[in-house]
Amino acid sequence: MSLDKNVADLLNEQINKELYSAYLYLTFADYYDDRGLKGFANWYMIQVQEEVAHAKGLRRYLLDNDVLPQMKAVAQPDKTFSNDLEPLEAALAHEKYITDSINQIYFAAHEAHDLRTCKLLDWYVNEQAEEEVNAKDMITNMKLFGTDPKGLYDLDREYQARTFVAPTIAM
Ligand code: FEO
Repeated sequence: MSLDKNVADLLNEQINKELYSAYLYLTFADYYDDRGLKGFANWYMIQVQEEVAHAKGLRRYLLDNDVLPQMKAVAQPDKTFSNDLEPLEAALAHEKYITDSINQIYFAAHEAHDLRTCKLLDWYVNEQAEEEVNAKDMITNMKLFGTDPKGLYDLDREYQARTFVAPTIAM
């Protein structure tokens, strides 16, 4: 079975969106590192690795289905932040955008009766649910504890402990 052209193009675009996500989260890590919040910076540096892994999973899938991926230009993130909550809120908004993007590919694959791509995207749908929960929890934690220096210190220590766990998809 060869991939539907529209589905293949959307998957290719998604590679770019995942790489942009990595680039965006690098700027979040930069913000926190510059603030001296190395735990928050670590959390986003791990997120960068996750986003690259998401892109690699899509690349592998295209190659395995005889489509040559095209690496397109990654846009410059244009975010500047004036407080520690803003990157967290921007992360949640961005993850919702990515969820919508994954859903759109899913709909296209379903319409093309492309069950193989739907199966791949099942993993991404679940991953997005997790990503949104993580992003929401970070906002909640910051609002509850982040305004107090000791609370912020503890949160930073907690985020310092995050390590990269490679996804279960083929890459
Ligand atoms: Fe790859 Fe954060 O979505």
